[in-house]
Amino acid sequence: MAVRTAVIPAAGMGTRFLPATRATPKELLPIYDTPALQFVIDEAAQAGCTRVVIVTSRAKPSIENYAAVASTDKVAVSVAYQDSPLGLGHAVSCARQAVGDEPFVVMLPDEIMGDASLTKQLIELFEKSGKSSIGLKRVAPAEVSSYGNVKVAGGAGVAGDANSSVEILQVVEKPKPADAVSDIVIIGRYVLSPKVFEKLELIKPSNNGELQLTDALAMLANEQALLGVVSEITRYDTGTPMGLLRAVIEIALDRKDIGPQLNAWLREKFNK
Ligand code: G1P
Repeated sequence: MAVRTAVIPAAGMGTRFLPATRATPKELLPIYDTPALQFVIDEAAQAGCTRVVIVTSRAKPSIENYAAVASTDKVAVSVAYQDSPLGLGHAVSCARQAVGDEPFVVMLPDEIMGDASLTKQLIELFEKSGKSSIGLKRVAPAEVSSYGNVKVAGGAGVAGDANSSVEILQVVEKPKPADAVSDIVIIGRYVLSPKVFEKLELIKPSNNGELQLTDALAMLANEQALLGVVSEITRYDTGTPMGLLRAVIEIALDRKDIGPQLNAWLREKFNK
């Protein structure tokens, strides 16, 4: 079945960005002149999705206002509500009615990708295999505990080729360094079979009280129903103020309209 819907979880409180997020949700903070959320909507459309469902909280009306004017001739943007902050797994289950009984993409707006190639590849992999397929990346061992961590078939060496697809055997959310199962982590792009909604009904809250999407993915992995793509895509982590600042500078430097001007100004500043 074709994948046509993208779900963007955007109900978080954005406490890392206070005081900015007193009035502006973090998903609407600008990367130069474009909200982070718009980058993710554009990526969904470029990957062939025709529907975007933003999961938001009624405490963030500006996300709804943005969604109301974000539809184009390619993509229809709507919202679903997550009124209690019960975690990523809960956010995804709040989109169940809007998604319906069909596969969908989950795109975390804390991560901006250089292009839509990974999402496209995950959609192709799902359409070929019928299995949920998620974005993966190798990181330094010290970084593993900030992410969902996976063990893949064939051992660590097998995923050496960039953009190769792998079968996922085990999934653990943010393991302590001693409990890490590899140096491969989950990045914020997931193409999921609607079966994940059934798994999300079965999982229990983790230690911090949140329902983790990773725990539902672990159930799919146990049924040999989870694949991944180990990617080397350009990726900006905009979930922290420093990550957002770096994304603004790098994305602005790449733009034809303002890049040369910014480059000249930075050179002048650092040559003093
Ligand atoms: C979430 C997921 C984690 C994943 C990460 C990617 O964590 O729970 O498995 O690796 O996104 O960004 P968060 O960063 O929201 O805590």
